[in-house]
Amino acid sequence: MTTTTKLEIENLIIDGGRVGASDGGTFDVYDPSTGEIFTRVAKATKADVDRAVQSAQAAMESKSWGGMVPAERGRILFRIAQAIRDAADELAPLESRDNGKPLRQARTDVQVAARYFEFFAGIADKIMGQTIPLGPGFLDYTIREPIGVSAQIIPWNYPIQIGARGVAPALAAGCAVVLKPAEEAPMTALRLGEIALRSGLPPGVLNVVPGLGPEAGAALASHPGINQLTFTGSVEVGILVAKMAADNIVPVVMELGGKSPNIVFADADRDLAVTGVANAIFQNAGQTCSAGSRLLVERAAHDAILERLLAHVQRMRIGPGPSDPDLGPIISKKQLETIERYVAIGRDEGARVAAGGGRPPDPSLGRGFFFEPTLLDGVAPEMRVAREEIFGPVLAIIPFDTVEDAIQIGNRSDYGLVAGIWTRDINKAMAMSSRLKSGQVYVNTYGAGGGVELPFGGYKKSGYGREKGLESLASYTQVKNVCIKF
Ligand code: NAI
Ligand code: MG
Repeated sequence: MTTTTKLEIENLIIDGGRVGASDGGTFDVYDPSTGEIFTRVAKATKADVDRAVQSAQAAMESKSWGGMVPAERGRILFRIAQAIRDAADELAPLESRDNGKPLRQARTDVQVAARYFEFFAGIADKIMGQTIPLGPGFLDYTIREPIGVSAQIIPWNYPIQIGARGVAPALAAGCAVVLKPAEEAPMTALRLGEIALRSGLPPGVLNVVPGLGPEAGAALASHPGINQLTFTGSVEVGILVAKMAADNIVPVVMELGGKSPNIVFADADRDLAVTGVANAIFQNAGQTCSAGSRLLVERAAHDAILERLLAHVQRMRIGPGPSDPDLGPIISKKQLETIERYVAIGRDEGARVAAGGGRPPDPSLGRGFFFEPTLLDGVAPEMRVAREEIFGPVLAIIPFDTVEDAIQIGNRSDYGLVAGIWTRDINKAMAMSSRLKSGQVYVNTYGAGGGVELPFGGYKKSGYGREKGLESLASYTQVKNVCIKF
């Protein structure tokens, strides 16, 4: 787990410059495919976070960004999008190494990140208000002003995608951002900050302060100088940061993951459904907020679908992310152990491990944090493996009998992020989609290649507020009403 070569230190980005931590502290960044340290990153302290927030406040105050002609702001965002695309051959391998995800998934993430900037670049000059008819002698109108300093705490599972998902709409709205990447995978968020500066973003408008959650994360969430907080991560930490923000009356967007069902009917196109179901759980080794981690399958099709899934799993190549396997490692030893614990719980609860269930036997993978693609069959809705987010390549398979059953089981979750429905019967699909309690419903597909354009967010404990699409602008703007009597 150690290395003898001297490593460069990746510094923080504050006020347009690269700076070390105020106390000189750093943390190690691991390659989860090998367990080796591959770089060292400055570890932001409370004082560093404070400087970053102050620099964002100064950028808001100076109107260097929010006061720029909107079309010009849009042009800079387009330049960022293009610069991300131009750097894809550097960014994708870096993301793959830092997070462990297969290279082609990292390539997709980079393209999606570019797409966020492109989408919101086009919106920068179209953030409009309304006129409200009060009658003769009045002119009443609204304008949408930038909300101010947006604090963004992101996880390690899709650093560049989730980073771009929050930063791009905030910048389009004219906000300044302080971005706190996760300690497990901070590298591409730093690159994003560099790219933005090189593309003409004024200093202080995007600060990037990697650091530990309870230190830098808590300092940011509780900072009285922020005006908005976007958080993606665990429910547990979501509750903590929402309380911190509440002390300063700071509104929060919360994206807290899920236990999303893929519901497959016997009449579905089975090849399509199985491919969709497998991708929804095995992409990024199941470490995806919107992972389709429950398969609800109509009993009549159970054996046939399971057989196809088994064949799919057997074909999957496991290996280091940069070698572009079908399944890369888990982010950390800790997360790997969580997954192992859940599989043991599933066994104890009476689920049957139909495939996988442990670390792969290949000795060349022994130093990385690998876990086999795993199918848990015979899962009952009340089992913990059917209710709790495992965040690994583990699919819980639950048979059902009727449409009503499928809806009841589908909704039997504290979460409600995404649901997938697989059927050839449009009436069944429509009935289901109106009754499933989740922020997104997909029919005969799952996800939409990043889904940049589609509002995304949770029902229930999956969170609140919406990211992606035009809807996300609501979080980064505040409405001012102006009423004139003449
Ligand atoms: P986490 O919620 O601890 O980490 C997410 C972010 O919050 C990171 O940037 C972290 O540094 C920060 N953070 C941690 N503690 C903090 C605190 N006290 N104050 C402010 N910020 C803090 O998630 P973790 O530990 O990485 O994963 C645990 C579980 O959370 C996973 O197994 C998974 O179930 C869930 N999760 C969900 C994600 C999603 O996409 N919705 C992403 C990551 C994790
Ligand atoms: Mg944590």
